[in-house]
Amino acid sequence: MSVKTLVTSALPYANGPLHLGHAVEYVQTDILVRFLRSAGRDVLYVCADDTHGTPIELSAAKDGIPPEQYVASFWEQHRRDFQDLGIGLDAFYTTHSPENRAYAELIYGRLKEAGDIARRSVEQTYCEVDQRFLPDRFVRGTCPNCKSPDQYGDVCEVCGKTYSPADLIDPRCVLCGTPPVRRSSEHLFFRLSAHQAFLQELIRAPGFLHPAVANQLQAFFDQGLNDWDISRDGPYFGFPIPGETNKYFYVWLDAPIGYIATTEKWAKDSGRAASALAYWAEDADAEIIHVIGKDIVYFHALFWPAVLKVAHLKRPSRLVVHGHLTVDGTKMSKSRGTFITARTYLDALDPAYLRYFFASNLGPNPEDFDLSLTEFRQRVNGELVNNVCNLANRVLSLLAVPLGQRLAPAAAGPGQVLVEEALRKATEVRAAYEKIDFRTAVRGATEISQSANQFLQARAPWAKVKSEPEVARRDLSDAAEVAYLVAGLLQPVVPTVADKLFAQLQAPPLTFARLKGAAYPLLDRQKPIGTPAPLLPRMEETQVKSLIVPAAAASAPAAAPASAAPPPEGAAPGTLSPEDFAKVALRVGLVRAAERVPKADKLLKLTVDVGEAEPRTIAAGIAEAYAPEAVVGRRVVVVANLAPRTIRGILSQGMLLAAGPGGAALRLVDPGDLPPGSEVR
Ligand code: 2FM
Ligand code: ZN
Repeated sequence: MSVKTLVTSALPYANGPLHLGHAVEYVQTDILVRFLRSAGRDVLYVCADDTHGTPIELSAAKDGIPPEQYVASFWEQHRRDFQDLGIGLDAFYTTHSPENRAYAELIYGRLKEAGDIARRSVEQTYCEVDQRFLPDRFVRGTCPNCKSPDQYGDVCEVCGKTYSPADLIDPRCVLCGTPPVRRSSEHLFFRLSAHQAFLQELIRAPGFLHPAVANQLQAFFDQGLNDWDISRDGPYFGFPIPGETNKYFYVWLDAPIGYIATTEKWAKDSGRAASALAYWAEDADAEIIHVIGKDIVYFHALFWPAVLKVAHLKRPSRLVVHGHLTVDGTKMSKSRGTFITARTYLDALDPAYLRYFFASNLGPNPEDFDLSLTEFRQRVNGELVNNVCNLANRVLSLLAVPLGQRLAPAAAGPGQVLVEEALRKATEVRAAYEKIDFRTAVRGATEISQSANQFLQARAPWAKVKSEPEVARRDLSDAAEVAYLVAGLLQPVVPTVADKLFAQLQAPPLTFARLKGAAYPLLDRQKPIGTPAPLLPRMEETQVKSLIVPAAAASAPAAAPASAAPPPEGAAPGTLSPEDFAKVALRVGLVRAAERVPKADKLLKLTVDVGEAEPRTIAAGIAEAYAPEAVVGRRVVVVANLAPRTIRGILSQGMLLAAGPGGAALRLVDPGDLPPGSEVR
């Protein structure tokens, strides 16, 4: 076995918020990392923002800021999302870094030296107005196959046909709307074709890739691998290619190099290695595992290992590939409100619920899976809250007050049988984690918990606390062993829940390393336990519902989806029909009470009378402009039919209308002295 393991998640693009689709991957990686650490392995986990390329460059230009500033703002957002989801990264960096530039140049130099860089002239779509080559997604026109209008330059979303922008009928530059021309330019290619035999063998190497994924790659080999275009002409946000004029590394060349650069950054900051080469040198005593989505297998299984080989660097030993997430049966959609960002989720719910649900759906195969909101709540409440957390809480509460927080000495009997059976089953759970089959691991752990619940049901220690306290203590102590074991088994999935239980038991964290060969009893029976408290509340339906925020009701302006639905006939894009506007219920409200929200500088929690039986709670982002006492007694205009949404733990039942640029300059819209509940039209 290798001494050190480096694990990575794919680098998110720095041009949008993280969403639950991303979270699948980070949760999967984080569980793997926590499991390996629990098993005693030396693991480093890194990720970074992927910052280069035309879409980011153009989005920054649209916002009127330099791309460096644009990507920096997403970096901060992403860093917080990772942290709040409980993703234990050792380093989160950016591909727009000096380390990444240095490694990109080093690697490119080695590819060149090896004779693996070729120069070829490429004809591409060019906009003479914008004076730039246009990536396929920046050209739209009529599909040459089904004649659907307004399709991308690479694929028709109506008939699914793939083609090149040159094939489009009546092509237009999406930036300026003018017809582009064809223009030639010299590009640099990596000779991927020269490495076909190496790659074909690599993808079949035992443990490298799931066989089903390897089979899918076979088609590329059957056609013969094409050389890979690694250069782009300026203007382009990326690293200039040394020795070339106005040429930049293609974003996908330097993105995976970001894994190395982030390792370098970690080494420098932590002082725990001299450089990234402690992991990436060809002969380093390390293994590298990349966790990725199935859509980017091509880059990680073909280009990347070939580049690393030619550059004399360490190749990944394993690619863990997951499928995609759907929400309530369909692809996440902004207009339906199922495009759930990590922040929307985190504002409403504890990450433990999501981590548990994802784990219980992630098997070893790269299958897609669905976040059905009903199933999400039922499963998490049924399995994690009612079964696992309640077992612990029930046992500890009975041991606490009536039995003086003391455990019984270990003794032979049905409780010992229960624990020994659980320990036997725990080895199966471990084996499932090793196979990255988290679904089976979670099922095993919940079955163990269930067996202890059944044991308690049969032994009914609550009925014996007074009449036979020592019998009750013994049964409860044995059940506490199982709760402890289950916490150890689920620690990679729900670390906060497990850590809470370890603390309440006043027992050391139960790791897989400790569990190897462990026997009854696991707990030090001499030591008193601590004070019990509920580990995790039930998930409420309103909380789950608040995850769905249809674009029209979202209070923050949502970024336009890549393929916005066409506006209704006759309507200019962005206009609203009078019927649409009439759907918004605006009411006069009277603010009855207001308070600041801890750790949320911009928010006030308001109690607003809108003429209904009960006043509403509204979280309003007005704290920089108004002190709480300045709004009490004020009349405001409330959007009264917004779907409720949890903001910083407050279930907000509406939104206030305000004008101005925001911050301290924000002004609430004043409806005069009309009574609460009056309609605003
Ligand atoms: O597909 C994506 O979202 C890319 N930003 C992933 C890059 S992973 C790695 F290669 F850097
Ligand atoms: Zn143009």
